[in-house]
Amino acid sequence: MWSAQPVVSPPREIRQFAGLEDLSEAAAGEFCRIAGRVLAERRRCAVALTGGSTPRRLYELLTADRYRHRVGWDRVDFFWGDERAVPPDHDASNYRMARDLLLEPLAVPRAHIHRIEGERPDLEAAAVAYEREIARVFDVSPDGPSPAFDLVLLGMGADGHTASLFPGTNVSRETPRWVVSQYVPSIAANRVTMTPRILNAARHVLFLVAGAEKAEALALVLEGRHDPQRLPAQMIDPASGLLMWFVDRDAAARLNGWRADHLSTPA
Ligand code: 6PG
Repeated sequence: MWSAQPVVSPPREIRQFAGLEDLSEAAAGEFCRIAGRVLAERRRCAVALTGGSTPRRLYELLTADRYRHRVGWDRVDFFWGDERAVPPDHDASNYRMARDLLLEPLAVPRAHIHRIEGERPDLEAAAVAYEREIARVFDVSPDGPSPAFDLVLLGMGADGHTASLFPGTNVSRETPRWVVSQYVPSIAANRVTMTPRILNAARHVLFLVAGAEKAEALALVLEGRHDPQRLPAQMIDPASGLLMWFVDRDAAARLNGWRADHLSTPA
């Protein structure tokens, strides 16, 4: 059962776990609850996945018997919040990580897997193509209001970045685009990323943050001065959706609200 007291009141919920294993189990449970509720009411459920190393265990867990049977995976559409400028078989590909750990084991139909084409020489064209793909699947105009993902998974870097919205980015909450390409000087790499515009339209946003190296950034993002240019994760603030932060003990160590007796255990 969850602890009775989230550290911060809804609509932002912060749940603290002993370590990555508990955090991942809880995230798997939350994923299945959200997808199950959506699919009880609608034909399809749309999820945006995150890259990085933190979600690897979550993806593995979702394929375990205790979770895989809880969701009609053939009715879930999978997207990505960001992608690196690499081909889909590259070790650094966010698509590949999810494909290997989650999508192939669950036999998700190819037509429901919507990847960002990070291998394109023109990444801006890849970003525009991704906006069109999102619009096609949601059956809306790419020039209209953002569609609402049912669930967006996000990670956070030790510099406060999320998706590929890095400090100093010229993308803001007001940027009208849904997906953009960017050169990120701090990592000397190009990325394609969803923008706050579409991420904040989601019904549920779930951040997964683990590790002591994230502790300082997490405290600044959640409890520090509002400075989204320096801490892009602060731009994520869904207009009417639920924002959830699942953090482990090490990442939470510098939060004022941190108390060992607030630790949650996976439901
Ligand atoms: C990516 C991301 C990125 C990631 C964070 C955290 O493509 O790398 O989507 O935003 O979530 O960098 O990464 P870790 O989980 O590896 O710490």
